[in-house]
Formats: sequence, C-alpha cells, structure tokens
Amino acid sequence: MDGKRDVKPLGLESLAYGKGEKVMSSKVINVGLLGLGTVGRGVYRILKENGDVIGQRAGVVIRVKKVLVRDIAKNRGIEIEEGLLTGDVNDILNDPDIDIVVELLGGINPAFEYALAALTRAKSVVTANKDVIAVHGRELFAAADKHGRDLFFEGSVAGGIPIIGPLKDSLAANRIRQVIGIVNGTTNYMLTRMSKEGLPFDEVLKEAQALGYAEADPAADVEGFDSARKIAILASIAFNTRVTLGDVYVEGITRITAEDIAYAGELGFTVKLLGIAKETADGVEVRVHPAMLPKNHPLAAVNDVYNAIFVLGDAAGELMFYGRGAGELPTASAVVADIMNAARNLSLNVPGIIGCTCFEEKPVKPMGATSTRYYIRLRVSDRPGVLAGIAYVFGDNEVSLASVIQKHSAGKAAEIVLVTHEVPEKNLQNSLKKLQDLPIVYQISNVIRVEGENESS
Ligand code: NAP
Ligand code: HSE
Repeated sequence: MDGKRDVKPLGLESLAYGKGEKVMSSKVINVGLLGLGTVGRGVYRILKENGDVIGQRAGVVIRVKKVLVRDIAKNRGIEIEEGLLTGDVNDILNDPDIDIVVELLGGINPAFEYALAALTRAKSVVTANKDVIAVHGRELFAAADKHGRDLFFEGSVAGGIPIIGPLKDSLAANRIRQVIGIVNGTTNYMLTRMSKEGLPFDEVLKEAQALGYAEADPAADVEGFDSARKIAILASIAFNTRVTLGDVYVEGITRITAEDIAYAGELGFTVKLLGIAKETADGVEVRVHPAMLPKNHPLAAVNDVYNAIFVLGDAAGELMFYGRGAGELPTASAVVADIMNAARNLSLNVPGIIGCTCFEEKPVKPMGATSTRYYIRLRVSDRPGVLAGIAYVFGDNEVSLASVIQKHSAGKAAEIVLVTHEVPEKNLQNSLKKLQDLPIVYQISNVIRVEGENESS
C-alpha cells in the first residue's frame, strides 16, 4: 500500500485524476429549480460560483437545466443563461433528464403538489419549505419511499445551520431529551432591535422584510407559525414520532412591549421567541412562545438574524448549533449541500436509503399539562389590601409566587410584576380567569413564560 486511494466512485467514469487526489466525474446530474426568489437565486449563484469544488466533492457535475418562475420577464439582478427560465412546471416535471427537483416556491400549494409529482416521477426532491414538510411530510416521505428517491429538507429549519443532518446522523446514537431553539430569524432580529435600540415593533418588522428575512406573509413569523413548523420538524426527528403543526401550542411576539423587555432586563432575563420540544415520561411537549431566558443561558446571547438550537442528548450532553437562520446565501448553503447529497446518491445508485425517521408513535402532551415559571404584569388599583387579594387568588389555585414588585403608579392605578415558581399551566390559567373578574385588577397586561433555568450553564 502506498497510501494513495485508487478507488473510483461506483458507476462513474473518471475524467481527471490530479496527482491521484482529485476525482472529477463526467456524470452530469440535472437539476430543475422551482423558484428563483431569495433562496433560489442563492442556490443558482452558489452552484455557479463554487461549481468546481461542488463537483469535486459530490463526485458528479451538477447542472441547473431549467428554472420555474412566475414572471420570466422580471429583472432578477443576476446573469441567467438564455432559455433557462420557464413559466411551465411541466418543462421540469416531464423532462426525463432532470434528476433532482429543488422546490423553493414557498407556501403549501402548488409547492406540495409539484414536490409530490416530482417524487412520483422518480426524481429526488430537495426543499427549504417548512410549511410543506410540517404539514405534508408523511405523504412526501411515502412517495419518496415508494419510488426509491431522496427527500431532503435541511434548509427548511434555521437557514444555514446544519441541524437536521446532525440530529438524523451525527447524534443518531443518542436519545434526544430536549431541543430548544431560536428558529425564526425575523423575530429574533426584531426582538434584538427592540431590546437594544428601543425601536417600535412596526419599524423593525419593516427592516426585517427589507432584508429578505421575513416570509411573504410576515404574520407567519411574528405570530409564531414559522417557528412552530420548524419545531414540529425538529421534534419529529429528535423523538422519532410524527409531530405536525396542529400539535404545537403557538404564541407569537405581537404582545411583547417595550415595558416587558425593560422588566425582563431588570429581572436578569432576555426575551426570545423559543421553539421548545421536550420528551417527558407522559409524552412529548412541543410549544412556541416568547420566553424570558436567564441572561447567562447560551440562547440569550443569540442576537439579530442569528438562530441557535440547543440540543440535549443522553450521551452527547448539551450541544448548541448557531448560525444565520435566514437569508439568501446561508439558506442556499444548506439547500446546495442537500442537492450534492441527492446527486451523489443518484450517481452511486443508492437514493432513498435515508427515509422517514418517525418509527414510533408518542402522545403529544396538552399544553395544560406542562409546567413552567411565569412572569405576570398587572395593572391594579393602588390601595391597601390589593396585593393580599391577588396573592390569595394565586394561593387558592396552587400557584406559588417567587417575587412581587410594585413599580410605577399613575393616579389610582399601579403596575405589579410577579414571577411564579414552576407551576402547571392549568393552575396558572385558572388563576388568570379569577384575576380577570376581580374589580381591583384593571388589566392583565402580559404573561410570559420563564424558561431555561435548568439548562443554563
Ligand atoms: P421568494 O423570494 O418569495 O421566492 C419565491 C420564488 O418562487 C419566486 O422566484 C417566484 O417567482 C416563484 N414562485 C412562487 N410561486 C410560484 C408559482 N406558483 N409558479 C411559479 N413560480 C412561483 O421566496 P424565498 O424567500 O426564496 O423562499 C423560498 C422557500 O424557502 C420558502 O419555502 C421559504 O419558507 C424557504 N426559506 C426561506 C428563507 C429565507 O431566508 N428567505 C430561509 C429558509 C427557508 P417570481 O420570482 O417570478 O415571482
Ligand atoms: N422567515 C424565516 C425566518 C425565514 O425569519 O426565520 C427562514 O425560514
């Protein structure tokens, strides 16, 4: 043995061996891109600009053969080969030379319909579409399995951060106990700008839209549904059970105010929109909501458009995956890696071997059965006996209080901020119902869960 590898990739004709190290195959894998918006453009650019290393690493030449768009006359700010754009999806679905369809349209339909049609025609599919995977993953995996093709979706969760591959592959030896993530770049950007600059909600949302981070309908970002789709996907993979969007408790950031952010700071917390998935003895817990995190928690330092996913495995322990959760090139980086894997598998004639990982059926815990600490901000009557009246309601519902602060008072009203010990959600909700009916409580201004105290390092 002289230490040199002279093993050619199976079924490939080698074009060149440079000093016995590089293998470039003549085999071409054709790709049909559905969509040339933010992510599609990034995929096209990476495949063009890094085509040489991509070819070497994948062992095949990857070529974009057709690109579907709505408007072929639109100026896209990049140079596109003549004849590449089409407005007819059948130019891709019915082309027997296209091996991989890359769905980057967004939304459920026609994205789902086209992805299913591609798999049915024995083409591998790569997508960054969490809406489709979180709602129709089961049907797509069944089609991929039936036709022996790959369905890859790394770009669908946390943009450029590798998390699906590591959960399925590098951490496959672990029982995953928890996955807690900041998985929406738009809202993390917004909360960071609101916290650091004191800017209003509407202004920072417009900035996130201009930067290409937000969904076509940004309600999906700020109301938490984008995070919910992503945590459903991660929970399904982490716990090997199908979790869909409908299983996830969802609350967005639309009720978060500058006052809450300021109180959080005073109490030693940072407000983040979290996707939380935990495996417990009586089922999996999957929820999305704003949360107060201790400032020393690893996720509390994740700012701007950055996303991070904190994973707890029984063998590997605590891990954190960090990077850009949205944007043209970071997301395209994940999509192109999936295209390379699918192309390699096709060239080696082994597509479809990594199928769906949901081989168990675990119950999803109702939200009322979960337990956490809570921050509660109330506007109350400013007179003697009010605190005792409020404390009585909490005590009566078995909600134990950890701290109470009375802050500002204006006229006859005062603001009270309470933080509870860990209590069942059901007890907290019962208390809030009772408080609403108390004449001394003018308004329940906000309730935010406190998370991460057990995981903080
Ligand atoms: P986008 O900028 O809105 O681009 C969508 C593209 O699809 C456009 O080129 C549009 O054509 C085309 N298109 C949409 N509907 C079509 C239809 N019915 N027929 C033909 N073409 C159609 O979207 P994006 O931001 O790139 O997002 C694409 C996917 O990636 C989504 O699933 C999104 O959730 C996901 N994703 C995005 C990001 C991000 O940072 N943007 C990150 C991770 C995942 P025209 O250009 O002609 O209008
Ligand atoms: N709108 C999404 C976000 C894009 O802000 O995270 C990435 O999925």
